[in-house]
Amino acid sequence: MQGDPSGQYLPQVPGNPLGTPLSTPPPANPDQSSSPGPQLFSERKKGPYFEFAKKKWETEDTFRLPDGKGKRSALVDHQTKNKEHKQLSQEMEMGLKRVMLVAGVSQRLLGKVAIVTGGAKGIGYACASCLGHEGCKVVVADIDEQGSSRAVSQLQLEGVLAAAAKCDVSKKHEVDQLVAWTVQTYGALDILIANAGIVKGADFLDMSQEDFDAVLNVNLKGVFLTGQAAARQMVEQNKMSPGRGGAIINMSSVNAVMAIPTIAGYNASKGGVNNLTRCMALSLAAHNIRVNGIGPGSIMTEVLAAVASDKSAMNRVLSRTPMGRVGDPLEIGQIAAFLASDAASYITGQILYADGGRMALNYTVPVPGE
Ligand SMILES: NC(=O)c1ccc[n+]([C@@H]2O[C@H](COP(=O)([O-])OP(=O)(O)OC[C@H]3O[C@@H](n4cnc5c(N)ncnc54)[C@H](O)[C@@H]3O)[C@@H](O)[C@H]2O)c1
Repeated sequence: MQGDPSGQYLPQVPGNPLGTPLSTPPPANPDQSSSPGPQLFSERKKGPYFEFAKKKWETEDTFRLPDGKGKRSALVDHQTKNKEHKQLSQEMEMGLKRVMLVAGVSQRLLGKVAIVTGGAKGIGYACASCLGHEGCKVVVADIDEQGSSRAVSQLQLEGVLAAAAKCDVSKKHEVDQLVAWTVQTYGALDILIANAGIVKGADFLDMSQEDFDAVLNVNLKGVFLTGQAAARQMVEQNKMSPGRGGAIINMSSVNAVMAIPTIAGYNASKGGVNNLTRCMALSLAAHNIRVNGIGPGSIMTEVLAAVASDKSAMNRVLSRTPMGRVGDPLEIGQIAAFLASDAASYITGQILYADGGRMALNYTVPVPGE
């Protein structure tokens, strides 16, 4: 964690006093281009959502284009009848949207702008990907400069309109710059995923004040700072165009209400996130801003990869997971996209737990295959 009080982590560029992203937004979102043509899917790279949609496109012949043709004959038409090219391209684009709907890849967030903190990898990256594939422009904000550049390159390859910004969420001036830069670049801020988080482990009796503070600064103060800066912008937007508030999603954990004895700061920070979420929801409801939390159980990110390589440790995790597996980051990203969308328009002040059944479980379950 190497924040810089002078703000030099957000380097100045001519004409942009607020700092600059690490990579500039790409010229266009292929999703929104007018004529994708027959190479529709080959333009898209290997995002898991598009792999899924592509498979559906290739294998399901029940799918019909608006003129009633099956997709394969429509493709042949497309290659042979040049004068119908434009119209068919449009029909295919409509068709793609339907395939995406079937695949659960709707465009619920088309035209929205989101910041995802800690978006360089893990759950944050999955949130950025899920939001982006639903049509949202995404700013990946992370303390890891190279990581966020890599993340944004991958998102852009998949057709997501994304940009990277270096930001330490525990530093107010960097957070304020991040929000200002996002609004300057994309014109608004509709969604915040306050996801950045760290964990430091030690026996309770040995935990240092420094480690406790470090975790609270990122996991709890960071959620407060980013939430406040984002909400101030959303309040203004709601004044300018009534009804356009926003959605804030705070990344909590099952450890907000359960505890692991060796991570006191983490447990405390996530408990704080839950009640901060409720407080924000109440304060911001009148401004059309919804605030919710997500409480993941064990999700396969780098943190858990270390556990996964230790069979007995993994068995302990699975013995507390009725679904018999750990979660995929995309399973959290999908919840973030839902909570950010109008599908969740009457949900605020809630924490949604995605934990494979852990919190419902007293005692243990048999481990699959053991
Ligand atoms: N993985 C799990 O099993 C799990 C379970 C419950 C909750 N969570 C929560 O989900 C969130 C993401 O977890 P993850 O497993 O993807 O972690 P991760 O370590 O894979 O990713 C965390 C990201 O946050 C960034 N980050 C760290 N400090 C930052 C700061 N000060 N400012 C900006 N960015 C910073 C890191 O650079 C990294 O890119 C965390 O809040 C975590 O507590 C994770």
